[in-house]
Amino acid sequence: MTSKIHTILSIETSCDETAAAVVIDGHKVSSSVVSSQIPIHQRFGGVVPEIAARAHVEQILTVIESALNEAFGKNPQQKLQDSVDAIAVTSSPGLVGSLLVGVNTARTLARVFDKPLIPVNHTLGHVYSNFIGHTPNFPFLTLVASGGHTDLILSKSHGSHQVIGRTRDDAAGEAFDKAAQILGLSYPGGPAIGKVAVNGSGSAYPLPRAMMHQDNLDFSFSGLKTALLILVEDLKASGKNIESLVPNLAASFQQAVIDSLIDRTIKAARITGVEQINLAGGVAANLALRDALEQKTKADHLQFHVPNLEYCTDNAAMIGAAAYYATLEKRDFNWYNVNVEREPKLCL
Ligand code: KG4
Ligand code: ZN
Repeated sequence: MTSKIHTILSIETSCDETAAAVVIDGHKVSSSVVSSQIPIHQRFGGVVPEIAARAHVEQILTVIESALNEAFGKNPQQKLQDSVDAIAVTSSPGLVGSLLVGVNTARTLARVFDKPLIPVNHTLGHVYSNFIGHTPNFPFLTLVASGGHTDLILSKSHGSHQVIGRTRDDAAGEAFDKAAQILGLSYPGGPAIGKVAVNGSGSAYPLPRAMMHQDNLDFSFSGLKTALLILVEDLKASGKNIESLVPNLAASFQQAVIDSLIDRTIKAARITGVEQINLAGGVAANLALRDALEQKTKADHLQFHVPNLEYCTDNAAMIGAAAYYATLEKRDFNWYNVNVEREPKLCL
């Protein structure tokens, strides 16, 4: 079935970024605007759901208008009417109050401007971040490592995506955020740890790599976080100055996460026979992980792809990309069928 939808206005508000984008044919980004709430949540050391929802309400219309202006120039209202074929929005999973802001804004725009409205699963959005400026061949595996998820997803076609491994407890990004708190670093923890780890050694402290010898493709990061906490407490009790040890502690923690992520991903490729590995999600912005997975896949004669940094952390362009491919599978996208999903489904 050929789709008549080419230009999509997409909206993402599942966590702490208010984002909108204009994406053409699923791979060409005309504009991608992200308003981050990091400065608002930083003093709490994590995202406060009520404050996040409120900030989305304050930002959403300005962010959408900026995305339309950037893509088309002046007169966003007219451009939305004339040049946008459909609207897409993240409908799950995420913080319910935050999702509701994006979904209700999108429903209203779709109703007023009489456009199809395409609901998109956020995790699948991360999978499709690898379609921006690039076309992966099926089948492929995606390691989605973010603040809320650590999933290994096997994609056989635009209509077939299966989670074949997932975290049993904390997500990789969540582990970075908690480790940063233990080390006295700022929120979000991933970028903070990545920065100081550059000056440390990944083998300075022996930290656990859970699940590596188990007969499945799952991850676990809560034991690693506890091991880091105990190590730091022991070092403090023996009179050590923690501040001077932070680069080595951060690098050792980061290396343990990277080793776990790579081990499962390569094992998944071996088991499924899939040769294309994609990396996605906020943790994919980690330069050491990008480098290490690139090296490992090269050594194992596998193909590797990772999006530009701006499309790893939450953004709306990936939602527009996923939505476009959804239109190749399905035709009927009415605003009144779109709501925040109570039970997220990994499908288009
Ligand atoms: O995908 P994302 O923006 O939001 C979710 O869907 O959760 O991911 C955010 C997570 C945070 O936990 C953050 O610490 C982590 O991604 N992150 C990183 C880096 N940049 C963001 N983790 C490791 N290294 C980074 N450079
Ligand atoms: Zn995300």
